[in-house]
Amino acid sequence: MTPRSFLLTPELADYVRASSDPVDEVMADLIRETAEMADRGEVSGTMQIAPEQGVLMRLLTTALGARRAIEIGTFTGFSALCIARGLPEDGSLLCLDRNEQWTAVARRYWERAGVAGRIELRIGDALPTLRSLPAEETFDLAFVDADKTGYAAYVAELHPRMTPNGVVLLDNTLWSGSVLDPGDDSDLALAELNAALATDPRWETVLLPLADGLTLLRKR
Ligand SMILES: C[S@@+](CC[C@H](N)C(=O)[O-])C[C@H]1O[C@@H](n2cnc3c(N)ncnc32)[C@H](O)[C@@H]1O
Repeated sequence: MTPRSFLLTPELADYVRASSDPVDEVMADLIRETAEMADRGEVSGTMQIAPEQGVLMRLLTTALGARRAIEIGTFTGFSALCIARGLPEDGSLLCLDRNEQWTAVARRYWERAGVAGRIELRIGDALPTLRSLPAEETFDLAFVDADKTGYAAYVAELHPRMTPNGVVLLDNTLWSGSVLDPGDDSDLALAELNAALATDPRWETVLLPLADGLTLLRKR
């Protein structure tokens, strides 16, 4: 499989995966089915998070003791599966995505993995859906992996909804390195957001060079 990181050679990516918890049969099948969709030209081959990032997200979910989580950008459900597996039996994950076809794949795999009961999927534009949630609906963990130009608005909406010490994960914050020399709107949005978050006193921030860049924000 591809490295999912411009920082790793294929050999090093294999090594990273071999040195981390392995993916199980359900995860492997979901990775394979999504790759087949990419081969047929139905999706971009780089949309799904890297397996080692999935392991990290499951680990963080468990280590933080997260009970209530939200994901913005679900696609075929791999990252949601990893978060859901890190939640306790009575935990819950709210997934927001606008694509029915891709998330139908996700639902099948969540059923198969036995985590469907912990996940609620809402189809539609994520920002209005997020804004429409009751003010008292709070989250211990959030994962943002949708339109890059929307990240700043998602982070702003999530801040009041995160519990104290709640963690927000932002995917693709290195954006294949284009944040150093922004060309299009997505490059620019991520570069501006990274710069703003580094000095934002409301968050403790670290950008990890994992996969395509993963920023961790802890609500102070
Ligand atoms: C990179 S993929 C997410 C990959 C997923 N986290 C995984 O690991 O498989 C981005 C997803 O965000 C969704 N998306 C993009 N913009 C959106 C928006 N404004 N509202 C809701 N969903 C959006 C797309 O439909 C797509 O499924």
